Amino acid sequence: MRHVENFNQDWLFTPRKVDLHAPDDWFGQITLPHTNKLFKSRFVDNREYQFISTYRKRFSVDETTGKRVFLDFDGVMLQSTVYLNSQLLGEHAGGYTPFSFEITDYLVNGENILTVYVDSTENESIPPYGGRVDYLTFGGIYRDVYLRVVHPCHIVRVFARPLDALETPRLECDIQLSVVRTGLSIEAILEDAQGNEIARQLQQIDADNVTISFPALHHIELWSLENPVLYNLILNLSEDGQYIDRESVSIGFRSTEFSEDGNFYLNGQPLKLFGLNRHQTYPYIGAAAPARLQALDADILKYELGCNIVRTSHYPQSPHFLKRCDEIGLLVFEEIPGWQHIGDEAWQAIVLRDVRAMIERDRNHPSIILWGVRINESPDNDDLYGQTNALAHELDPTRQTGGVRNFIASNKLEDVFTLNDFPPGIQKPVHKPHLITEFVGHMFPTKTWDQEERRIEHALHHARKHNDLTGCADIAGGIGWCAFDYHTHREFGSGDRICHHGVMDIFRLPKMAAYFYRSQKSPEDKVVLYAATNWSMGDRSGSGNNPLVVFSNCNEIEVITGDSSQGRFQPDVENYPNLRNPPFVVRWGTPYNPWGSEIYDLTVNGFLNGELAAQHRIASDHLPRKLRLSIHTSTLKADGSDMTRIAVQIVDKYGNVLPYQQRIVEFRLEGDGELIGENPAVLSGGQVACYVRSGKSAGQITVTAWSADLPEESVTLQIEA
Ligand code: GAL
Repeated sequence: MRHVENFNQDWLFTPRKVDLHAPDDWFGQITLPHTNKLFKSRFVDNREYQFISTYRKRFSVDETTGKRVFLDFDGVMLQSTVYLNSQLLGEHAGGYTPFSFEITDYLVNGENILTVYVDSTENESIPPYGGRVDYLTFGGIYRDVYLRVVHPCHIVRVFARPLDALETPRLECDIQLSVVRTGLSIEAILEDAQGNEIARQLQQIDADNVTISFPALHHIELWSLENPVLYNLILNLSEDGQYIDRESVSIGFRSTEFSEDGNFYLNGQPLKLFGLNRHQTYPYIGAAAPARLQALDADILKYELGCNIVRTSHYPQSPHFLKRCDEIGLLVFEEIPGWQHIGDEAWQAIVLRDVRAMIERDRNHPSIILWGVRINESPDNDDLYGQTNALAHELDPTRQTGGVRNFIASNKLEDVFTLNDFPPGIQKPVHKPHLITEFVGHMFPTKTWDQEERRIEHALHHARKHNDLTGCADIAGGIGWCAFDYHTHREFGSGDRICHHGVMDIFRLPKMAAYFYRSQKSPEDKVVLYAATNWSMGDRSGSGNNPLVVFSNCNEIEVITGDSSQGRFQPDVENYPNLRNPPFVVRWGTPYNPWGSEIYDLTVNGFLNGELAAQHRIASDHLPRKLRLSIHTSTLKADGSDMTRIAVQIVDKYGNVLPYQQRIVEFRLEGDGELIGENPAVLSGGQVACYVRSGKSAGQITVTAWSADLPEESVTLQIEA
């Protein structure tokens, strides 16, 4: 039977290229995922990660006679040269797609030495490089590595295709075997998430590519955003009645279609796509985020930002991120690596290879609804994109293709015309289906510590675009630029090598725009009420607080200053007629636009059908009352690589972040673990975060933070074996 072992533990690393036989004490010990360097949260110079490093792992394997053994790399940035026991296994160019090497013939009894030279220079012969790129790629073995021991006759690839989800669902499953022999059969078992058997098929095998069909499946629950039901397909391969391999894939039954009528349909129902782009990079750790942080991003997009779709701009992202999108019901538009530039023939060959690698890796994910088979914002190239489209359709006849461009006159070779539409308003669609894949971004970069009117305007830019595109029946939806601030090259960004384009900052902590996104959730899901103001009288040009913008899914608000009600207000349906929950834009006259008159605390009450449903209060004294520490999980695994974010915010007496608190925070960590981040750290926009990485022993980790006169705060994590 197959044995798959996570190979993230016990690596040696040195940030240089050293001889295969260099002594171990030239290296330090690390665990994967790994960044070739830890960085500051801002001002990251891309030259810092551009070098060749050496990774080494000593390991032995149990008896493997008669087996085949592989090493599977999920992602290494940017070029890898891999040796086992001084024997070159091969090279791989490209940091976003997986690769494998067979090591069967090179394994020795006892200790084996695996060496990976990782060249993280921005090599212009490998996508996304060749031109200028608005994001950093970072470096290292930044995703997982596995050791896979299999029978010589084993399952290489599985493509399970749920079909006819809206009628009588059926399942077709293409299976590729390493070799064909006589006496082979596959038993395919479909189980629900609780392990109950739904159906079973037994099929004799006489070719290395076979399709197993489940013709009519009953009592199948559809995968949807609200109820993302997953099933497990288990494949047992046997030879003469003896099990020799087993593989399983997680699948979901759903129907998705970008229709010629302009709409996107999920399970037959029209759904306006509402989402954000995500880059996979983080402060300090580059792209080397473990499974838990990957999953957390998906959770933030769905639960904190209310998105129904994410675009994995501009490359295939972590399997852990996609798995979480399947589990929570978040749609995905996934695309190949690249940015604005198309290289020579050899470069284009990598593009085609990436299309294949992306689709073969990810076509079982129910969350993925569209393949991006064009280099983001590149010029038309009908020859190349004719090929990428044909390949995508061949590899996955069940999904449509898109390809993101930034000019409306571009040739439509894909099934869906996907356009970055940055100018104000909406460019009238020429083709249907039409999906908007970026807007706002560089048109309105905004920092958490910017003046309030800019932060509000940033949120309203997103609101306007969503309003406009929602009002256009020919448009399937919009994916804004972008979810999180990200590191970039010096040609871009705000002078701190960061594109402050996120609706959240680089730590994934909210800007005002995040509350616009959140406010579009249904109140049944979560009642949202956020007055977008610092509630000061002197921050805006001309002073005052007019208008007061409130992002909410309530249908009425009351604004109270001190004890005086300023009235009840309705959502601004006039300016945002198409939004599910238009913002409230309270334009008031004299009372709250006075120069120097006394200011009282603000209370905003939110009503749903006349009932008080939420309240937001803001202190007029703007005094820091507390360091608020928040974590998403209180449990980590003792694997030396699990991580969680600890967010620190300075808040007023009602818990509002005070964006102009630029003070220093210090941290102390007790227990077997590591604090990843700056220590002391400076708050930006009243907030900052660090990460805690577990060590290898079970127990507790306590992190304490303090800042001058504010009381210390601590959080405790349980570290489980
Ligand atoms: C787009 C590009 C994105 C990002 C964005 C900033 O042109 O596709 O990667 O650079 O601009 O707004």
